[in-house]
Amino acid sequence: MFLWVHYTDMVMALLAVPAAVAVWAGVRPSVSPGSGPSRMWRLLFGLLLGGAALRIVAALLLLPNGWDFAGPRLVFVAPALVVVAAVYGVWVRPMLGPPGGEWRVARWPGDYWAMTVAVGAVLVAGAAQLTGVGSAAVTGVGVLGIAAVRSVWRRTRWSRRLAGRWWRVAAKGLLGATVAAAVLAAMSTASRLPARSSMTGGPADIGGGSMISHSHHGGVGVTTLTGTDTEGVPVRRFTLTAQAATIELDSGQQVEAWTFNGMTPGPQLRVRQDDLVEVTLVNRLPNVGVTLHWHGVDVPNAMDGVAGVTQDAVAPGGRFVYRFRATQIGTYWYHSHEMSSVQVRRGLFGALVVLPAEVPGQGDAVDETVLRHSWVDEDGVATLGVTTGVQRRQVPAGRQVRLRLVNTDGKPATFTLTGAPVRVVAIDGTDVHEPSVLDGVRILVGGGARYDVAFTMPDQPVVLHAGGPTIVYSPGGNAGPGREGPVPALLDPARYGTPAATPFGAASHVDRRFTLRVDERLGFYDGRPTMRYTLNNRSFPDVPMLMVSPGDLVEVTYVNRSGQHHPMHLHGHHMLVLDRNGRPASGSPWWVDTLDVGPGETYRAAFRADNPGIWMDHCHNLEHAASGMILHLGYAGITTPFRTGRSTVNHPE
Ligand code: C2O
Ligand code: CU
Repeated sequence: MFLWVHYTDMVMALLAVPAAVAVWAGVRPSVSPGSGPSRMWRLLFGLLLGGAALRIVAALLLLPNGWDFAGPRLVFVAPALVVVAAVYGVWVRPMLGPPGGEWRVARWPGDYWAMTVAVGAVLVAGAAQLTGVGSAAVTGVGVLGIAAVRSVWRRTRWSRRLAGRWWRVAAKGLLGATVAAAVLAAMSTASRLPARSSMTGGPADIGGGSMISHSHHGGVGVTTLTGTDTEGVPVRRFTLTAQAATIELDSGQQVEAWTFNGMTPGPQLRVRQDDLVEVTLVNRLPNVGVTLHWHGVDVPNAMDGVAGVTQDAVAPGGRFVYRFRATQIGTYWYHSHEMSSVQVRRGLFGALVVLPAEVPGQGDAVDETVLRHSWVDEDGVATLGVTTGVQRRQVPAGRQVRLRLVNTDGKPATFTLTGAPVRVVAIDGTDVHEPSVLDGVRILVGGGARYDVAFTMPDQPVVLHAGGPTIVYSPGGNAGPGREGPVPALLDPARYGTPAATPFGAASHVDRRFTLRVDERLGFYDGRPTMRYTLNNRSFPDVPMLMVSPGDLVEVTYVNRSGQHHPMHLHGHHMLVLDRNGRPASGSPWWVDTLDVGPGETYRAAFRADNPGIWMDHCHNLEHAASGMILHLGYAGITTPFRTGRSTVNHPE
């Protein structure tokens, strides 16, 4: 429903632009008596009226989603509808005259300015939705400016000399095209990113919408934030070497991949809780830098691996040593955070699993990590490992099986498990409290998110569909997917499991409140035309940093007014989901590091600011991030010596 209304509204707003421009260009003041508005002109004017009315209906239909959805539309479209209707009643209708009678010619200046205001109101309302509130203001001023120029022009001798119809059409066309080209060029130039920027130089939001200017002088540098418990001899040491490799998929397709240690996914790092882990990253890629980010692990800030924020990208031939204590059990993953949208897609990722220190009597349990990855692009072929088709596994009946489902893409992926009673035992690394047994399960795993499922192997096959690729587990090891019966119900993580004590909750005193409203805007980013997903109408690096102090309880409300899913990933912290679309989460405490906010949805989540540093908070649809859907969480007094931008080696997105 939301999608349908949202995109109908977008299309109406878009169609109104050429209609408004044509109506405006078609107003011919007092030059040729008897030639009233053409049939076409009247039709277009009607379209403006009908379009505005439809957009009001759309806004009203979005009222159940909240004022954030309906309000901004009503504020701009309602005045446009009133103005267009008034202009129709007062100017257009009389011009048409009695049925079958003579038309009255549009008069200057009254009629002309009335049309201008109507057209301007429609264009402003369209711009507010399509390109943002800022551009709406520019549009309004632009329309009035052009009308003023035109009214001056018509007093000149030249305008009478060039009064012929074709001259006028050609002149208007040329003028329109020039203005449009100039506006686009200006927008493109204005969207260029600074050659060098600091995450701690710009405006900061200290909660509740108050802004301060954040200084990047003095303070504690991020490189000193290496953790308090990370000295000593590491228990687990790994080396991950970024290198190019040609990967052959089972479909026969060859992929020029970037890998860790020549493998895809990269080696799975399995450690025990409280192990001191040391990972040496070595870069053997030609010409590109890399980093390692521990997605979902709340490591000390200096180990977070974000190029230009917590370190410089590791140059070809270079290395970097990451060190952290694995305090949280669960399923995580690692990936490069330099040119992430390109590097993750090309294969620079792998799984990190933190097992409990002791796992009594689980010696022969099956524990498999299933990373779903799309090569090339999201709509391209998806794989588990290098397999696009069916994989078969032999598992004796009676065995405990745990599958750790990871979505390395940006769009949500549907995993369906059938054939056994199953429990969803963990989400984003955190155990679910008292997960009930389900008769098969379907899970929408958002980009970057992880869901762990567990079952006891039955006599018959268990099938895991991962939206394309499939794994069949069977005692014999050679069963096919076959017929699996009815599609299981979709898991609702807000209602699954049972409540348990949490360190804070919906009733706790909140120290800082932030709201992030996501919009879908046509425009430019870094000089290129693109669809931008803005955060509070801005894009990286202009989104104000969220400023907190150690110990704060921070509440963030995500409002997704766009038609896409946005898996919002906060580094260094886990958020407790409080409510979704105004309904409190009522199942097990639902902790996330990557919260998939669907089209039209509103989530309220909270976290304790207990890990000082400068932390990225971004959409894990990495293409969205690459077109600016990034902001940072900063702790007062902490600064970074690193810089991002063209003139640096760092391009974290
Ligand atoms: Cu998985 Cu900022 O990333
Ligand atoms: Cu997004």
